[in-house]
Amino acid sequence: MSKTAARMIAGQLILKPNSVLGLATGSTPVGMYAELASMYKRGEADFSKAVTFNLDEYYPIARENDQSYYYFMNEHLYSKVNLNPQNVHIPDGSAKDIETECANYDKSIDEFGGIDLQILGIGNNGHIAFNEPEEELTDKTHLVKLTDDTIEANSRFFASKDDVPRNAVTSGMATILKAKKIILLVNGKGKGTALKKVLSGKITTACPATMLNLHRDVIVIADNEAME
Ligand code: GLP
Repeated sequence: MSKTAARMIAGQLILKPNSVLGLATGSTPVGMYAELASMYKRGEADFSKAVTFNLDEYYPIARENDQSYYYFMNEHLYSKVNLNPQNVHIPDGSAKDIETECANYDKSIDEFGGIDLQILGIGNNGHIAFNEPEEELTDKTHLVKLTDDTIEANSRFFASKDDVPRNAVTSGMATILKAKKIILLVNGKGKGTALKKVLSGKITTACPATMLNLHRDVIVIADNEAME
C-alpha cells in the first residue's frame, strides 16, 4: 500500500514538478512517507518545486507540541525530503482568529491552482480529514468538535484521553472533493466496515468517506485486513 502510493506521488512529481499535493496524517500514511524518504535518498523523488497542503490540525495546539500534525509532518516528511519550507502548509492550530485562518487556507489552496493529488486516510467511523459523521457536512475549511469515537481512537498517541484536543481545524468536503485526483489509503481490520460502506457506492453523511463516490478520479489502495 505504502509503496504503491509513494510511487504514485513520485510519478505525479515527474509529470508536474510543481504539483500541489494534499497530505494526510495518522498512522496509515507513515509507511508511505518512509518510502518517499527512501525514494528521495535514491534520487527517485524530487520535491524541490512541490507544494503541500495538509488536511487538518488539532485546535488548539502549538506547532512545537509533539502531538501536533505539524510536528508529525516534520518528523515524517519535511525533514526527510527536499521540500521548500515556504511551500508547506498546515492549518495553524494556534491561530487566534480561527475563522480567518480557515478562510485564508481555502484561498491559499485556490491561489496555488487547487490540489492535484490528494492523499486520504479514513477514520474507523468513516471520517475523512476531521469531517465527522453528521446530519450535515461542511464544504470549506472549518473548526470542528471531535466525536468521542475519534478522541478515543486518537488517544493512543497521547499520554491520556484527557490530553486529546477536543477540536480540530479541518478541510471541508468541497476542499477535498475539488482535488483533481484522490488516493484513499485503508489498512487494518478496524477500517473494514467504513471501507465496505465506501465501496457500496451508497452516499451518506453518516459516513463522510462515501462522498468520494461523487468524485471522478479516486483510487482506493487497501490492505488485505481492511478488505476482509
Ligand atoms: C485522524 C485524521 C485523519 C486520518 C484518520 C485515520 O483522526 N484526522 O486524517 O485519516 O484519523 O487515522 P489512522 O491512519 O491513524 O487510522
